[in-house]
Amino acid sequence: MLLITSILCFFGSFSFFPKMQPTVYLSWENDPATSMVIHWYTEDEEDSKIKYRKQGESVWSYKEGTYVHLRHLPLRIHSVELLDLEPNTEYEFSLGKKVYRFRSLPMDLRYPLCFAVGGDVYYYLDLMRKMALQIAARSPDFVVVGGDIAYTRGSKQLFKQRDWQEKRWVTFFNTWSETMKTSDGRLIPIVGVLGNHDVERIGLEEEEIVYRFLPEIRSFKVIDIGSLSLFLLDTGHRYQVKAQEKWLEQELEKREKNAYKMAVYHVSGYPSVYSEEGITPRRIRGYWHPHFDRYHLQIAFENHNHAYKRTYPLKNGKYDPEGVIYMGDGSWGVWTRVPKEKWYLEKKAKVNAVCVVQIDQEKAVVEAIDIKGKMIDSVTIIPQGAGSAP
Ligand SMILES: [Fe+2]
Repeated sequence: MLLITSILCFFGSFSFFPKMQPTVYLSWENDPATSMVIHWYTEDEEDSKIKYRKQGESVWSYKEGTYVHLRHLPLRIHSVELLDLEPNTEYEFSLGKKVYRFRSLPMDLRYPLCFAVGGDVYYYLDLMRKMALQIAARSPDFVVVGGDIAYTRGSKQLFKQRDWQEKRWVTFFNTWSETMKTSDGRLIPIVGVLGNHDVERIGLEEEEIVYRFLPEIRSFKVIDIGSLSLFLLDTGHRYQVKAQEKWLEQELEKREKNAYKMAVYHVSGYPSVYSEEGITPRRIRGYWHPHFDRYHLQIAFENHNHAYKRTYPLKNGKYDPEGVIYMGDGSWGVWTRVPKEKWYLEKKAKVNAVCVVQIDQEKAVVEAIDIKGKMIDSVTIIPQGAGSAP
């Protein structure tokens, strides 16, 4: 027993404590300006009803959603989607006595927007939590997790009990719920991207547990916030890289004139640690990057390497001041690795880091912060079309 406990601790800690309050977290299935999905889980047989209202109003509206059971833990995961919300508006909702708050996103970038991006999140709970607190201190409107969210798939699971994966997801969202709120109590939504440790493999018929906790996660989708388009992609975990190419090209073409286009995906096309000659990096560069170049994507946030990196602007596989910047490399809550010498890296560091993006109509400023909240790197992007007018 002692040995098993030691192995559990060694391979990544988790905790599973019954909580007095339900864990509550937010995400989006539809337009983030006019909708919100609220999730929570309960150990009791409660229904999936919430009441909500615009902040300052006296009358509550009621909405009933649905729930799913887990296979091994006695939990119900509830989901309610609120629709027809007013953009850029504070709402409050309640599951019982406690009142929670969120804000719908704006329809355009006349209102500055802030979001964070970081991957490889919950390997070590302590690191996940510390970084989450630094992110929350920046009061982002939402956070994109770039894959390897709770590290529930891979060789580690071989040693574990049947409920181990579910417990890790429960711990992840307990921690998210506790840490991902602003100092004035606004909940910060999660936007998910799949990584190799979130799902087993392409073609597995069994339903993956991640979809029970976060059914909004998709292999590939695009989120539009005014003239910002965020492309979320799957680097071959549930869908092949090549299978997304046509969709990506079409969606980029539709948004060619949008001010900002950014992508988030898990495995790096320009890795800081792994070989760039690996099969997935070559597929990403072959099937996706030419479309990034053609339609003027500004930044691609990559992950999976457990280091921090920012490339030079690159186009057609070469330095080009008009090219795409590839940054991130996935070191939110994992052990870090030493980045290698690579011709395309302008900045690299063995450090836990995430990127925080401040964006408005004039510019987007991306800051990389470390686990103490210190800025370790920064880059400024101008909107598409700016500078070309006379
Ligand atoms: Fe990974």
